[in-house]
Parts: sequence; structure tokens; C-alpha cells
Amino acid sequence: MAANTLPDPVDLSHHLSRSTKAREASSIKQFYKYFLIPGIGQLAGGLPNPNYFPYDTLEAKVALPNRWKPTPNRPVDPPSAELASTTLSDALPSTRVVVPHFSGNSDPLHTIDLVTALQYGTAQGYPSLYYFIRQFTLENLHPTIPYKGGAEIVLTCGSTDGFSKTIQALSNEWSEDWNPIDERPGLLVEEFCYMNAIQAARPRGLGIVPVAIDDEGMLVSGKGGLEDVLENWDFSKGRRPHLMYTVTIGQNPTSGTLSVQRRKEIYALCVKYDIIIIEDDPYWYLQFPSASSSAPAAPPAKSSGFEFLDSLIPSYLSIDYQGRVVRLDTFSKTIAPGCRLGWITAQPALIERLLRITETSTQQPSGFVQSMVAELIMGPQGHSDGGRGGAADGSGWKVDGWVRWLEGLRGNYERRMNAMCDVLASGKHLVKAGRRTSFNEVTSDDEWAVIEKAKIYDFVRPLGGMFVWVRFDFQTHPLHSRVPLPRLARALWVFWTAKPYLVLASPGTVFAPTEEIRERDAWQCFRLCFAACNENELEDFSRRFADGAQAFWRIKKKEKIDELLKDEEPPSDAAAEGMDAGLAILTGFC
Ligand SMILES: Cc1ncc(COP(=O)(O)O)c(C=O)c1O
Repeated sequence: MAANTLPDPVDLSHHLSRSTKAREASSIKQFYKYFLIPGIGQLAGGLPNPNYFPYDTLEAKVALPNRWKPTPNRPVDPPSAELASTTLSDALPSTRVVVPHFSGNSDPLHTIDLVTALQYGTAQGYPSLYYFIRQFTLENLHPTIPYKGGAEIVLTCGSTDGFSKTIQALSNEWSEDWNPIDERPGLLVEEFCYMNAIQAARPRGLGIVPVAIDDEGMLVSGKGGLEDVLENWDFSKGRRPHLMYTVTIGQNPTSGTLSVQRRKEIYALCVKYDIIIIEDDPYWYLQFPSASSSAPAAPPAKSSGFEFLDSLIPSYLSIDYQGRVVRLDTFSKTIAPGCRLGWITAQPALIERLLRITETSTQQPSGFVQSMVAELIMGPQGHSDGGRGGAADGSGWKVDGWVRWLEGLRGNYERRMNAMCDVLASGKHLVKAGRRTSFNEVTSDDEWAVIEKAKIYDFVRPLGGMFVWVRFDFQTHPLHSRVPLPRLARALWVFWTAKPYLVLASPGTVFAPTEEIRERDAWQCFRLCFAACNENELEDFSRRFADGAQAFWRIKKKEKIDELLKDEEPPSDAAAEGMDAGLAILTGFC
């Protein structure tokens, strides 16, 4: 469709919270554009003097964008053949980045220096970096946003910050004590989800509404699917939800990756029921073609200019003809979580409200981080600017280098994913020679005469992200009829943490947004992260996980389970919650 025939984004102002509607532009920030007039006598702003900043420059040794080798952009059959030939590079090519004190550049879009970056600034973000990310987002990441005028962005302190601001903008706080139930806002979520988001939403009084999922993500139809939840909404629980929080690529924790077709169906329901989709996508660049048996997606209508980006399943933004998608991006997985840097992409009217929230909360992300990232990627903006970027010749990585960096990261995480999954696949069955006719019967008899095979666990090779979601079948455990299965699951977790296995998995209960899901089947699942440990430890840790499971399935005495859980008695709900909370901290919640 030609740009001028695209529809306008719909007016979503009826979804704004009371406080967000009431916000006015910061009276101080309104002056900022006048600060930029050349030669203006600056007596207005309460700005500290930049000559007194104790940092003369910022310098760092950084990677060149080609540090890691990419993997192919299309499914490879068999996967190992081509992947094996793209090993990690041995050398770690690096260079030095310098952010100068004063660049002498007068155009704020081409200024990267400490005098400006460490000063108070505009809520959109540091102008040069904001402009770069905006262009990258609209031209390369999402070149086909189908509403008139396209989207706008605002920089954030990461996706957690982006989500917090988004729900602040789009939901009123609700309290059981003060507000009628028919005003209670609701948040649709995947039935296993990233709990930090839930924990941000719950204290605002939002009702958490799980939607059933399969290996891809949210189900459209069927029991517990989106249509079922919305059509049969029980108004005694509050308003029908008008917000959806979703992680559509390499979902945390299940690794679900949502196809374009499913996106279209879910989006149509969101249009029908006037729902805003908050798409949190930290793992977007980590899509793994080698785990896919299907043909690559058709190339996008408009190319991003990069084969790698074109090969990725596109964001909800690519089908968002009404402007009801708020997308959260972050540098946490592509540079480092400690950056606390990300951005929100949405229709301009919503971004304008988010800007107002930003002005009186974070103001903007840290100038140290913004200038370092800007210099790394954009490099010096003039001949005598005094800066040095992240490319070998002292210029910046530029868009090409940034995409090359993302490709290399994908390559490494894809190799890790395959390494872990190969080990897990080899250990999911327990094979025994036995005399029993049923694997499930308990016997103290150790003489075996027939071959028996039981599936202990199963998993789907993730198409993206950093996690493998492993579902156990405790019905096949020899003690299944004598020990409650959730108890067996807890004992297994403890069993892994002791020698010789000594391995930590995240229990599925940590990711259950409701008590009902926690009790129904969350306890059967464990999330493994293949990202965090050292490359050379990954196979060993995965092996210990699989071996531990195998050994646990050989336990035939109930007393052994009691022994494992002795420190946990009595297993009350509160204790269970305490353990999960502790674990969540231990596993970083991420
Ligand atoms: C789904 C999801 N969203 C958000 C985050 C946190 O992002 P940020 O560091 O940008 O706040 C994580 C971290 O693990 C995550 O898995």
C-alpha cells in the first residue's frame, strides 16, 4: 500500500489512565529547544557547569562487530552439518572507543560528547542516539508499519522501565477497597510468563488473565485461547482486559516463537475487543533457523536492507494497521543488561504521553551509557570531533556493523542452544533391562530381564531466545503412585542441587502467573538457560541435568524423597512461595 493511502492510527486516548491524561509538558523541558539557539545567553536553565564534570573523556576497549561468527539465515537440514562449520572465532578483535569532552559540533543530532551527554537533556533521549535508533527502527527493523505517518520512539532505561511506563500510561490504579469491580483493568498474559511484568502490574490492581499457549505462544481458539477468554469474559472479575503483555520470540520461559499467521489472528481479536498489545521482545534477534523444519518466511514486502533482519519473524508492528502495538526493545541482551537502555516504539500519540511520564520520572537514560553506545555505533561526527568509534578505523560500527554484531550474537546463542538440546535429547529416556512388566511398578528386585524404556521428560528445540522449557512426566517415575507428583518434582529440584549433579534449574512454578496454573502443571516444568554459563561448561551442566534426572528415576524408596525434602517440611503454600521467591532471586528472574 502506498504510504499516503495507509489508515491513520486509531485514537486510543480512551485507554489512557486519568493521571496520564492529566499530564502536561514539563514546563522546564519546554525551554530546551531554546537552549540550542547558537549564541544564546544561557541564564534560564538550572544546569550545572559542564567544566566541573569530573570526567574529561570516557574511553573503553570494545569488540569489533565481527567478533563472533554468524550462523545461516535459513533452516539447515540436517542442522549440524552447516552449523558445525561456523565455529567461534578464536581471536577477539577489539578496538578503543573515546567519547570526547567537547566535540565542537553544533548540530545536536551530530553531537556525541560529555558536555552534552552528561548534562540534563530531553526525555526522548540523547539526540544523536535517539535519532540513530529511530532511523534504525523505522527503516531497518520495521520498515512496513502500516499506518499513516509511521511510529515514533522514546528511549527508556530498558524494557522493565518501558513496561512500567506503558502500564502507568494505559491503566488506572485499582484497589479492591476503594474501587468498584467493574472498573478493574485486566492484563492478558501467556499462561507461563516473565514474572517481573506480572509483579509490576499486580500492585496496580490489574487482574492477571492467562491465555492458554502451545509451542508457538498464545492460542487463538479452543479452551483457554484468546477468543474463549474474551468472548466468555466473566464480568464479575472486572472489565474485559484492554491490555495484552506478550513476548513473542523466544518467550521467557517457554521459548515460544509466534508465527506471522498466528499474529494476524491474535491481532484481529485485539481489534475486535479494542486491546492494546504490549510486545516485549528482548530476544527478537535470537531466532534460530536450525531449530526450524519449515521453509523460511517469505521475504518482507519492503526489505530492511539486510538479509539477516529480513529473515527474522517480524514484529506485531508489521501488521499494526491501527496503531495498537506498543513495542518494547532493549539493549540488555545485545549489549549488556547493566546498560539500562532500551526504547519503546508506538504510534506518535502514545509516545507523546510516554514522553510526559518520562519527563517527571527517569528524565532520560544515563548520559554515560547513551554517549558510550552512541560513540560505539555512530562514531565521531566531524573531522576534529576528538571521538573514536567502535570500528577498526576509528569510525563507528554504523548500521552495518550493528547488524553484523547481532548476527554474531545469534550465531553464538544458536550454537549454545544446539549444544544443550543435543545433550538433553540423549537423556530424555530411561532405558533399563528388567523383569517387571511395568516400568511404573515399584520393586526392590534389581535383576532385570526385559528392556524397558520410559520417557522422563520432553522439550521442543527453541526457535529463539535463551531458554529450553523442559516438561517432565512424573507418571513414569517408579514412585508415582506413592508420592504426590508435585512433591516428586520438588525433590528432583533438590536432588539436582546436590553432588554429583550440582546444577540449578528454574522451577516452572516461578513463571506461573496464577495459583491455579501453579497447581495445575507448572510444577512439572523447568526452565534451563543456555546463555549464562561459560561455553566450555554448557555441555557438562546439561549432562549433569540429564544424568540427575536419570538417577532420580532410579530412586525406588519413598524415604529417599522424604530425606531430600526434610529441610522443607512442612510444605505449606507459604513455604512453597518463599522458595520460589528465593529461587527467583537466585536465578535472576530473567
Ligand atoms: C521477557 C523479558 N522482558 C524484559 C526483560 C528485562 O529487560 P530489561 O533488562 O531491558 O529491563 C527480560 C529479562 O530477562 C525478559 O526476559
